[in-house]
Amino acid sequence: MSSIRSNNPHNDIEEVLIDDAAIQARVRDLGAEIASAYGGEEPLVLVSVLKGSLIFVADLMRAIPINVVIDLMEVSSYGGGNTESSGTVRILKDLSGTIEGRDVVIVEDIIDTGLTLNYLMGYLSGKSPRSIRIVTLLNKPARRLVDLKVDWIGFEIPDKFVVGYGLDFRETYRNLRYVGVLKRELYASALGES
Ligand code: PRP
Repeated sequence: MSSIRSNNPHNDIEEVLIDDAAIQARVRDLGAEIASAYGGEEPLVLVSVLKGSLIFVADLMRAIPINVVIDLMEVSSYGGGNTESSGTVRILKDLSGTIEGRDVVIVEDIIDTGLTLNYLMGYLSGKSPRSIRIVTLLNKPARRLVDLKVDWIGFEIPDKFVVGYGLDFRETYRNLRYVGVLKRELYASALGES
């Protein structure tokens, strides 16, 4: 089995787990569900957790038929290409605006151990929003380490290493339109396998 990388990301995918059409259909439904949960006068604040949720939030916000504003945070829990969570969350970019008294939805691409969102829920709750909920495109319940209430889930997925639609391996593959399983030989060294 060769581990030589091509420059075509599709060649590195073992299996397409969720295709473009399925993602788009689910995002439309999530947008309608989220909109129906809010009746406030102030626009809903979508807090996108970069970089992974970049693609998801761009599609999701266009599927929400009420007023929304967007703010961006960048956090990192998986330093330098590791595939396991360190449990340490670092804020690389904080919110630009205030969320005090506002309805907030945190937008994530994937919840794995839950450590990132557990930290973020505590951090953002401390800024006194009116409400705070979570939407994630993907949920990997098999790896959860902390109890977390997730309000909207796009897809439950098995414990496989997935990339695409915003999700990366060493910063690559985010531009795939689908969510796919990466060929194991490509990330085996990061797991300490030969
Ligand atoms: C990923 C993902 C979540 C987090 C989930 O981010 O976007 O934020 O890990 O993992 P957890 O539930 O185990 O905490 P990552 O740190 O890889 O950064 P990225 O979004 O920039 O790719």
